[in-house]
Amino acid sequence: MARSAENLPWIEKYRPETLDDVYGQTEIVETVRKFVKEGRLPHLLFYGPPGTGKTSTIVALAREIYGKNYRNMVLELNASDDRGIDVVRNQIKEFASTRQIFSKGFKLIILDEADSMTNAAQNALRRIIEKYTKNTRFCILANYAHKLTPALLSRCTRFRFQPLPAAAIEKRVTNVLIKEGLKLSPEALKALLKLSKGDMRRALNVLQASKATLDDPSEEVTENTIYECIGAPHPQEIETALESMLKDDWGTAFYTVNKIRTSKGLALIDMIEGMIEVLEDYELKPETRTQLLCKLADVEYAISKGGNDKIQNSAVIGVIKTSFELEG
Ligand SMILES: Nc1ncnc2c1ncn2[C@@H]1O[C@H](COP(=O)(O)OP(=O)(O)OP(=O)(O)O)[C@@H](O)[C@H]1O
Ligand SMILES: [Mg+2]
Repeated sequence: MARSAENLPWIEKYRPETLDDVYGQTEIVETVRKFVKEGRLPHLLFYGPPGTGKTSTIVALAREIYGKNYRNMVLELNASDDRGIDVVRNQIKEFASTRQIFSKGFKLIILDEADSMTNAAQNALRRIIEKYTKNTRFCILANYAHKLTPALLSRCTRFRFQPLPAAAIEKRVTNVLIKEGLKLSPEALKALLKLSKGDMRRALNVLQASKATLDDPSEEVTENTIYECIGAPHPQEIETALESMLKDDWGTAFYTVNKIRTSKGLALIDMIEGMIEVLEDYELKPETRTQLLCKLADVEYAISKGGNDKIQNSAVIGVIKTSFELEG
C-alpha cells in the first residue's frame, strides 16, 4: 500500500478526498452541499480552466453523498471512452434503469470533458437527461461552456471554476511540502505560485518534477529549478533578450534571443509570455504599452496558427524595436 502510494503522481496522491480538501472554491462547494442537504440537487455544469478542481469536486461530492461505495451509484464517462451517441445512450440507459439496492434517491452520471463531445452526441443527451431525471442527476464537466449546445446548458445549473487564487495553491502546496519533506526557497515558492497561474495540477506536477532533480533530498529547491521544470524562461533571461533587442543591431539581437531559446529549450511562445510578464513591471508610456501588447498578441496568434518560427522571431524583434521608439 505504502509502496503504491509512493509511485503515484502527486496529483493523484493528493487528490481531495472530501469536499473540505477542495481549496479555493468555497462558494461552489457550499452551494452544492446545500443542494444536497435540501434534497434538491439539480443537474450540474462545472466549467473552467484545467486543474481548478472540477473533477475532484464532483468525485468528493459523490463520496459525501453515497459514502465509501459511491462507485456503485456513479457512472463516469470520460472523453477517452467511446462516446458516440449510441454508446452513451445505452450505457446511461443501462445504468439508470438498474434497480438501486440502497434507496439513496438518485444516481449520479458524470460526463467529464463534455466539450469534446460532438454536437450530435450533445443533442442526443438532452432527451436522455429528460428521460432519466426522475432517478438520476447529470454532472457535466467542461473547460469551455461555449462549446456546449444551448439545449444542454439550459438543463444544468452552471458553476464557473475560477483559476485558483495563489493563496489557495500556497496552502495546498505547503501541506504537500511538509508531507513530502521537501524544501523550497522563498523565491522558488513565489515563482511556483506565479507560474502555476491558478492551476493546481500544474503546481503539483512541477513540485514533483523539481523534487526529482535534487541529488540530495534535503537540499532546497531553487527558483531556477522551478523555471526549468515548468519550461518557462527566467525573468533575468527575458531581461537579457529585451536589452539586446533594444540596443543591439538586428543580427546580434536575433542571435542572442535564439541562444537563450536553444540553451533552455524554450518555444518562442514561452518567450513572449515571459516578456509580457516582465514588461508589466516596466514604466512605459500608455501608447507604447498598448502598441507593444497588441503587436505581441498578433505574433502570438500567428504562432498559434502555425506561423514560421524564424519569421515570427524576427517579428518580435521588430515589435520591440519599433514600439520602444515611441518612448523616445
Ligand atoms: N481546488 C482544488 N483543491 C485542491 N486540489 C486541487 C484543486 N484543484 C485541483 N487540485 C489538484 O489538481 C489535480 C487535478 O484536479 P482536477 O482533476 O479536479 O482538475 P479539473 O478542474 O477537473 O481539470 P481539467 O479541466 O483538466 O479536467 C487534483 O488531483 C488535485 O490534486
Ligand atoms: Mg477534470
